[in-house]
Amino acid sequence: MMLGIRKFYHFENPVTFGGRFKPDLFPKTQKCPSLVRASRQVKAFATMVKAIRIHENGGPEVLKWEDVEIGEPKEGEIRVKNKAIGLNFIDIYYRKGIYKTDLPFVPGLEAAGVVTAVGPGLTGRQVGDLVAYGAGPLGAYAEEQILPASIVVPIPPSIDPMVAAAVMIKGMTAQVLVQKCFKVEKGHTVLVHAAAGGCGSLLCQYANALGATVIGTVSTEEKAAQASEDGCHYPIIYTKEDFVSAVKKITNGEGVHVVYDSVGKDTFEGSIECLKYRGYMVNYGQSSGFPDPVHLPTLAKKSLFLTRPMLPHYTQTRDELLKTASQLFTNIASGTLKVRITRTYPLSQAAQAHTDLESRKTTGSVVLIPDA
Ligand SMILES: NC(=O)c1ccc[n+]([C@@H]2O[C@H](COP(=O)([O-])OP(=O)(O)OC[C@H]3O[C@@H](n4cnc5c(N)ncnc54)[C@H](OP(=O)(O)O)[C@@H]3O)[C@@H](O)[C@H]2O)c1
Repeated sequence: MMLGIRKFYHFENPVTFGGRFKPDLFPKTQKCPSLVRASRQVKAFATMVKAIRIHENGGPEVLKWEDVEIGEPKEGEIRVKNKAIGLNFIDIYYRKGIYKTDLPFVPGLEAAGVVTAVGPGLTGRQVGDLVAYGAGPLGAYAEEQILPASIVVPIPPSIDPMVAAAVMIKGMTAQVLVQKCFKVEKGHTVLVHAAAGGCGSLLCQYANALGATVIGTVSTEEKAAQASEDGCHYPIIYTKEDFVSAVKKITNGEGVHVVYDSVGKDTFEGSIECLKYRGYMVNYGQSSGFPDPVHLPTLAKKSLFLTRPMLPHYTQTRDELLKTASQLFTNIASGTLKVRITRTYPLSQAAQAHTDLESRKTTGSVVLIPDA
């Protein structure tokens, strides 16, 4: 299994390609004259695309299928026609307003597609390139979008674009969690919550491949069966059984080295109880709500470590992004990781996809496909 840093096949030289985000140089109320001129020029080329747009925070019904105007890419930007768009729980946080952004907005952070235009002077990217991305500005729920070139990675020929769209966020997150937040090694025992979910499925596979004993929580028998297939040695149905007691029994009262907790409110306290001395609590999401504030002496009881990681902080530089994506694609191509795309929906039906993800009906990765 390829978990170290090896070759960077298919990736361009990171030194010669693009830059990272540029700071906003002009306050919103003030117009830069050259930008105004540029925006007039862009208007001349503006095209309409179909997209899902949110005008107010709320339930799935606020996801509206609309015509949205996009312009031409400016310096450092590309235009991408999306072939497939990844659905993520974070999309629900933005829709509800738990994560804030200006309204109206087009949601979505993960997709794969083909480059249809490049900004002036851009080198390293060409019209026709297949690219994927899993961080950066919102806007992936669209047929086409403008992006900073620095956030996309090329899709190697061995990877289906639909698979790339399904794993850019979930796969890179799983990889960072087992490699960087806590380095999983042979002999470790790990607990993965929501073990049949998008991230959970990949986490079980990664941890198993690294030689760990994997304990996972899921809500149903079907999800337990899937988690087992993904390398989870001990699936626990936490809707029927107290997962803390089950983990203590499995580990002979010792506890686990690390908990990967994406459920948050409903599991956080129990997760802390499941840890052994000097264990690592990795809370990387909150599908059930934000956990209560942590009282520091709680950690002192077992000298525990606590972290709340966010993927973009582990792929901040172009080099980090390329290495992380390269390793992920290599592990998929070699068969070490199996990407479960369990459902697809037309992009126009994103509201139904949100409803199903939120009501715990989905497993693995879900992908939205542009209707045209
Ligand atoms: N920190 C980061 O950078 C980062 C990056 C990616 C994802 N994440 C987080 O990782 C988590 C998983 O994301 P995902 O897109 O892969 O979703 P997912 O795991 O496929 O879906 C969420 C799962 O959480 C479980 N769950 C438990 N309580 C729930 C509740 N009250 N409501 C809804 N679901 C509940 C369900 O599994 P069961 O039915 O088996 O309980 C559900 O299927 C999310 O919390 C997300 O925010 C964080």
